[in-house]
Amino acid sequence: MKMIKFSLPIALFAVCLFMTSCQKDGTNEDVVSHSYYTPEGFAVISEYLNIPESPMEYKLDFPDYYNTDFTLYDKDLATLGRVLFYDENLSEDRTISCASCHKQAIGFSDDVAFSRGIANNETARNSLALGSVFSFSEYYGSESFGRIPFFWDNRATTVAEQATGSFTNPLEMGMEMHEVVGRVNEQPYYAPLFAAAYGRTSEVTQDNVLEAITEFVNSMGSFDSKFDKGLSMKASGGGNTTSLAREDFPNFTNIENVGKAIYQNDCAGCHSPVVSAPSRTRSNNGLAVSYVDNGIGKLTGSSQDMGMFKVPTLRNVALSAPYMHDGSLATLEEVIEHYSSGIAAHPNLDFGLTVDGFNYSQADKEALLAFLQTTSDEEYTTTVKYSDPFKQ
Ligand code: HEC
Ligand code: HEC
Repeated sequence: MKMIKFSLPIALFAVCLFMTSCQKDGTNEDVVSHSYYTPEGFAVISEYLNIPESPMEYKLDFPDYYNTDFTLYDKDLATLGRVLFYDENLSEDRTISCASCHKQAIGFSDDVAFSRGIANNETARNSLALGSVFSFSEYYGSESFGRIPFFWDNRATTVAEQATGSFTNPLEMGMEMHEVVGRVNEQPYYAPLFAAAYGRTSEVTQDNVLEAITEFVNSMGSFDSKFDKGLSMKASGGGNTTSLAREDFPNFTNIENVGKAIYQNDCAGCHSPVVSAPSRTRSNNGLAVSYVDNGIGKLTGSSQDMGMFKVPTLRNVALSAPYMHDGSLATLEEVIEHYSSGIAAHPNLDFGLTVDGFNYSQADKEALLAFLQTTSDEEYTTTVKYSDPFKQ
């Protein structure tokens, strides 16, 4: 919350920049009059894709307590981005799309420890759930104002950087960016989609492809969980949401409220009181005494970065097993046991945790589990606007 309010001027500045950069071709009558596709164009689209004749709304539906009303999502760009996100033609052997490893039904994560890329290669880390991308988005703040970088080792600061990484990673999609542009030009449905987004004369460029994917990915926001509904009820009369999140929620069962209290005491210091942008960008949570994969330390070589990883969002966490950067914990029960009794004495173990663990009783563990399940958001995992648009 604080982050969003804090970064408002910067975000607005970014919005202005963004709007100029994606201004449509003013000479194109069709686009200006918002008749999105020509009849011929829509006929081609419909041969391959389930896309409505006029684009869906991608504006994020922030709950009132967010106190913000961004309308910055361009639906034509996001629609184009959605098709790119699901298009297997954009990988070397045409078998992998972004969605192969980020599956909507499970909070845009994957259900295996390591995902499969082209040629059946395994990724080096566990796929991250895209549950709260707006929290990390470049639209919502600069780095110095708490923007949270992407990837387990924080190595990308924008979705464009991140998406370039996925396209060109030989274990994931195995492409060069110019080859991606070539594949886009090959597919007949992209001409009308690009025309709607950029004007009919515009060329397909790497920047346009990345901008459209960014638009789609940044439009992903999960705000409809039981937890959000409870917080909205508490916050309807105003007040500080972080403290209101600590009070019992009227729509929660007793056990969920007990679990929430445990979460607020023991977990929220890193994972955020409102289960939104993590309170800390990086940390070590004592998975082992020493790590095979040192995360941020592997990049920087610095001893104080060894075993440090991004603090992931816990949105839809009950759907996104297995857990941690290496997928080494199979269930939430195992995660809770880790924090209760399994914290290892890593030299960089965070000051918010100790090797003694939280020593939860059976009842505590069940309550914490019940609470974590309240972050599942069925609207997010089923809504058509984020779903696979391809006709099979
Ligand atoms: C082969 C599997 C695979 C494919 C294909 C893939 N990803 Fe990922 N994605 C991952 C993995 C694994 C991670 C975590 C990697 C890491 O942190 O080092 C990740 C991380 C991310 C993140 C960072 C999330 C965060 O919270 O930091 C975003 C955003 C993302 N992917 C979007 C995309 C987009 C967009 C595409 C398509 C251009 C894509 N991914 C293609 C597996 C994949
Ligand atoms: C000191 C900061 C910190 C605290 C406190 C903390 N975590 Fe974490 N948590 C992390 C970090 C860092 C990771 C990623 C570690 C890794 O992958 O190596 C993580 C990962 C997780 C994951 C895996 C998510 C995924 O998508 O793979 C879950 C679930 C989780 N924590 C739940 C909890 C719960 C429940 C509590 C309270 C009992 C808690 N955490 C307390 C820092 C913390």
